[in-house]
Amino acid sequence: MAMVRLVACFVLYTSLGHIPSSLGVILRTTDKIVWANEFEPIELTCLIESISTNNPRIEWKKIKNGVPSYVYFQNKIAGDLENRAQLREPANILIFNTTRSDTAEYRCEVAAIDDQRDFDEILISLAVRVKPVVPRCSVPEAVTVGTSTELRCLENEGFPAPQYRWFHNNEELPQDPKNSPKFVNSSYTINPDTGGLKFQRVRKEDAGEYYCQAKNDAGHAQCSPQMMEVYDIDILGIFLKSFAAVAVFFCLAACICHSLKRGCFHKKSHSENNYNWPSQTDASYRDADEGHFRHKSSFVI
Ligand SMILES: *[C@@H]1O[C@H](CO)[C@@H](O)[C@H](O)[C@H]1NC(C)=O
Ligand SMILES: *[C@@H]1O[C@H](CO)[C@@H](O)[C@H](O)[C@H]1NC(C)=O
Repeated sequence: MAMVRLVACFVLYTSLGHIPSSLGVILRTTDKIVWANEFEPIELTCLIESISTNNPRIEWKKIKNGVPSYVYFQNKIAGDLENRAQLREPANILIFNTTRSDTAEYRCEVAAIDDQRDFDEILISLAVRVKPVVPRCSVPEAVTVGTSTELRCLENEGFPAPQYRWFHNNEELPQDPKNSPKFVNSSYTINPDTGGLKFQRVRKEDAGEYYCQAKNDAGHAQCSPQMMEVYDIDILGIFLKSFAAVAVFFCLAACICHSLKRGCFHKKSHSENNYNWPSQTDASYRDADEGHFRHKSSFVI
């Protein structure tokens, strides 16, 4: 009997002993790390587990790059979230339309003056996913069979950083060509992190339309298809070489012509024994400098 009484006493004592500690403010959140999609609403939860103060002071701060600023202060939404958020019972913050600049840490702080433990805070980190924009793709127009080449794809807006996939004639290129009967003889490798599609040795069958897709959890975007031609022989090289040869020929011809003209002109000017005439004919040849010519000729006349 004495034992039972002792146990009862102990239970009463310990439960009484717990009462003061529950007279303190304790916060809780459903998610310490929150992901949201850009342009969608998101609620950061700040739940009050226990409190005895009637009107606790609630504040929210945004901490970006280590710099805190108020987003809820003196019962008003302020700073970066002004007109874009609202406080919801008990102390949650609801952002109506998140933007990428909302990615930051947020701290809910509750001060309860009548509680023994009169302050608690909770830190939540918010990451806003951003849909990729149309990636920039570079596909060579023409390559020669047997040479190596690289197709590139780059997208800078998406968050988290997107993964890249490549399509050949509207069919996705498998990560590893060795695993696909259709592409088993192709020599390409894809780097899904950098967007590179590299061919060790281009084959005739690799010709076609290519486009790339950038994708993350928020969405995806792709560039428009671009044609890659594959030539048996180095047609491009031959074209460039013949173009260079033609250019050199015209340059030489122009040079020769020019020096011949000058030679003729010099003869002419020497044959006419007048000091005024050469300057006039000289000016009339330089038809590019017309204003100058007019000035000169009026002076001569
Ligand atoms: C969110 O904001 C963006 C840009 O500020 C706007 O285009 C979009 O319509 C907004 N969405 C909603 C649901 O208000
Ligand atoms: C791949 O190469 C092998 C050997 O040259 C050939 O037998 C096979 O038909 C080729 N496969 C494709 C899909 O081109």
